[in-house]
Amino acid sequence: MTSTILFRTTPRIFLGNGSIEQIGAEVRTLKGKRAFIVTDPGIVQSGILEKVTAALKSDKISFGVFDKVESDPRIEIVDQALAQLHQEKYDSVIGLGGGSSLDIAKLVSVMAKTSGKISDYFGIDLVPHPGLPLILVPTTAGTGSEVTPIAILSDEAEHLKKGVVSAYLFPKVALLDPLLTLGLPSAVTASTGMDALIHAIEAFTSINANDLTDHLAFKAIQLIYGNIRTAYARGEDVNARFNMLEGSLVAGLAFANAGVTAVHAFAYPLGGEFHVPHGLANAVMLPHVLRFNMLGNLSKFAAISKAFGLPAANLSQKHVAEMGILAIEDLMQDINIPLHLKDMNVSQEAIPRMAEGVMKVTRLLANNPRKLTLKDAEEIYRRAW
Ligand SMILES: [Fe+2]
Repeated sequence: MTSTILFRTTPRIFLGNGSIEQIGAEVRTLKGKRAFIVTDPGIVQSGILEKVTAALKSDKISFGVFDKVESDPRIEIVDQALAQLHQEKYDSVIGLGGGSSLDIAKLVSVMAKTSGKISDYFGIDLVPHPGLPLILVPTTAGTGSEVTPIAILSDEAEHLKKGVVSAYLFPKVALLDPLLTLGLPSAVTASTGMDALIHAIEAFTSINANDLTDHLAFKAIQLIYGNIRTAYARGEDVNARFNMLEGSLVAGLAFANAGVTAVHAFAYPLGGEFHVPHGLANAVMLPHVLRFNMLGNLSKFAAISKAFGLPAANLSQKHVAEMGILAIEDLMQDINIPLHLKDMNVSQEAIPRMAEGVMKVTRLLANNPRKLTLKDAEEIYRRAW
């Protein structure tokens, strides 16, 4: 029996070289006259902000800029941005940058229209109203945040990452211009690209995967695995950058609907306690979680190896799935991503409490293809260490 599929996503998605030129027209379509750009200092320095503001100026859209988004942003950053928004009276929000900037822009958009506190909305479907019209412009091929209903913040006091999940966090428009990603440093290309690959792998193997998300996730694995080395080695390769941004987008479409699984659950304590960047935290856990998860759905894990282009003839599904994990470790070495937690200054003593942290991420563990106990979680961290 096949159950009915519900697929939700961002209503307008642009993907094209130079598509940033459309941004003014899109603000206008949303009846915006005064746009609030939420971004980070790196985007200002790299000259990307200027490209966006030039496009807005040519369409006579007035704008202001909040450029204080940090990586692993704290709740306070949303409050700071909101104070500026209310003071300067904007009618629309543009998120510009990596996942942190896009997530903060999502929260600023919804918080601008409610009197509640963010902490009231941690969890699923607790945001009461739609927010200000929102346009998201990713500058990394990573999070896929432009097509997901999720925003993640760091709770410093509790050493935890917390998520707001609500359909009101989908932007009205996602604008993806690969030319904005040409100057991304190779280390960022590697870690954000691994995050995108993991979104695709986890969506593909989630127990909530369906036919639609499978088509997207499989294609995303092909695009990202097939282009990440080139994008890392030769960042100005427009074709590789285009395929990476398309891959991260398509992975986002898939995981927004199928969910991610245990790799992300293992990454959260590493980010929360040791500030390991999201992409690296996921990548270092990936081979170890895959080796554990594989038995839960051998045919799916073998199909990942096929998406990588590995030979499968006359081999068992398990053998093919194992080849895929070796291929991931080989990729990680090529793009200079550590294979072990001890190389990331994570202390071994933290493993028991991090394992407890994993078990609290029930939202993601519910999607995992294999049941996982506290003992399993400790063992997986030990293997990764
Ligand atoms: Fe992620």
